[in-house]
Amino acid sequence: MRIIRTVDYKDMSRKAANVISAQVILKPKSVLGLATGTTPIGTYKQLAAWCAKGDVDFSQVSTYNLDEYRGLSHEDVQSYHYFMRTNFFDHINIDLANTHVPDGSNPDADAACREYDRMVAEAGYPDLQLLGIGRNGHIGFNEPGPYFSKGTHMVNLTESTIKANSRLFDSEDQVPRQAYTMGVQTIMYARSILVVANGEEKADAVYRMCYGPVDPQCPASILQLHTNCTVIADEAALSKCPRA
Ligand code: GLP
Repeated sequence: MRIIRTVDYKDMSRKAANVISAQVILKPKSVLGLATGTTPIGTYKQLAAWCAKGDVDFSQVSTYNLDEYRGLSHEDVQSYHYFMRTNFFDHINIDLANTHVPDGSNPDADAACREYDRMVAEAGYPDLQLLGIGRNGHIGFNEPGPYFSKGTHMVNLTESTIKANSRLFDSEDQVPRQAYTMGVQTIMYARSILVVANGEEKADAVYRMCYGPVDPQCPASILQLHTNCTVIADEAALSKCPRA
């Protein structure tokens, strides 16, 4: 694991955007795995600004998002479909037909997940997978549990995730209880992984991801076994980790 310490959120976002830009410049037809959450918003903003200047071109890129709430339409403002359009896709020159997010509007979990696995496999898996990390060490919506998950599957969100994500809803009752998420095995198939994290509330999870035992109770810890994983995190998120 490569760990890059940044002074603050802005620095983290710019460095992460640089890594993603380099990927797209080196391989214009890159397959990117993308993430939602508050953490990558600054990265997406920076990429959009560079795209507007003509410094990075997404016209041939295709994207596969990690996860989506089950039961929300693609137009629902709380859906990750909507999040990706408003925070990223609407601001870059990507062909929307090349963007993919699990279909949370399909109530048939098996069909929705199987179809997503088929598409990701057909695309050859991401060249670069961007990840945030949950406070309990989750990646995508792969929550702590007795084993590491494989392909795309339906999950029941944990109380801690529902609580953490409720800040983006009017009330906790409105947070969907289930989601479809790419599995840990699929995430590990990506040829490179970039994790972004900021803030003190992520310090425990970041420590366990980088230095704890590889344990499905902290799903992100498996990233220690990936051969090309970079963590870009600010001082606060790395405050429990030893300085290199
Ligand atoms: C959500 C998403 C994850 C994200 C995590 C952290 O539940 N499913 O993909 O990494 O929570 O979110 P944030 O960046 O808002 O802290």
